[in-house]
Amino acid sequence: MSDFPPFYDDLAACHAELWRLLEEGVSDRHSAFHTPALATVDPHGRPQVRAVVLREADRGAGTLRFHCDRRSEKASEIAVAGTAALHVYDSAARIQVRVDGTAKLHTDDWFAETVWTQSQPMSRVCYGIAPGPGTALANGGDYTLPDADDAILTGREHFCAVVIRAERLEFLYLDTRGHRRALWLRSNAGWVETWLAP
Ligand SMILES: Cc1cc2nc3c(=O)[nH]c(=O)nc-3n(C[C@H](O)[C@H](O)[C@H](O)COP(=O)(O)O)c2cc1C
Repeated sequence: MSDFPPFYDDLAACHAELWRLLEEGVSDRHSAFHTPALATVDPHGRPQVRAVVLREADRGAGTLRFHCDRRSEKASEIAVAGTAALHVYDSAARIQVRVDGTAKLHTDDWFAETVWTQSQPMSRVCYGIAPGPGTALANGGDYTLPDADDAILTGREHFCAVVIRAERLEFLYLDTRGHRRALWLRSNAGWVETWLAP
């Protein structure tokens, strides 16, 4: 039987492991944490969920960033609700992470400009798609993408960086000897933590 992981009965270590996995997910394309599921609520009150690429995880600020087209449904839903949630399950680590927080769209401010400037030319191309994401098409290929040079101009007006400020974090480690589930809530004094029954 394998040893228990170092975070098994240690809330602070669980918190550190949660952020370590998120930070690793930003740079490791093979990590489950690279493509979390993003949940929003649509104008009809229905939950919507889809994959996004995790672009930044800032443990100190408790924030997570991804990018999207500002014409997309997810951008509209976040603009209205101001909230979003992320979910990852890493089957190799047997760890689930849930993040729930406030979400802010950065479209024309210095932050969006900086992130856009730093993004790869190939990443910019998809923001120049016409017609916009979610538009019904007669045929599957009835859309155009700019070439990489034109994308700098045509994509910028559609690009949007989204920052989720975590208000609630949850960590679940699956182990046949006893699961471990932990919760952190943001308070003015920092994170308030507790174990939860799994
Ligand atoms: C692995 C993967 C990564 C994705 N990353 C992003 C992303 O970073 N941003 C994004 O807007 N859409 C991304 N998508 C596409 C979305 O999941 C979704 O299909 C699309 O954005 C439309 O979503 P919406 O209509 O809810 O806005 C990704 C899809 C997959 C499968």
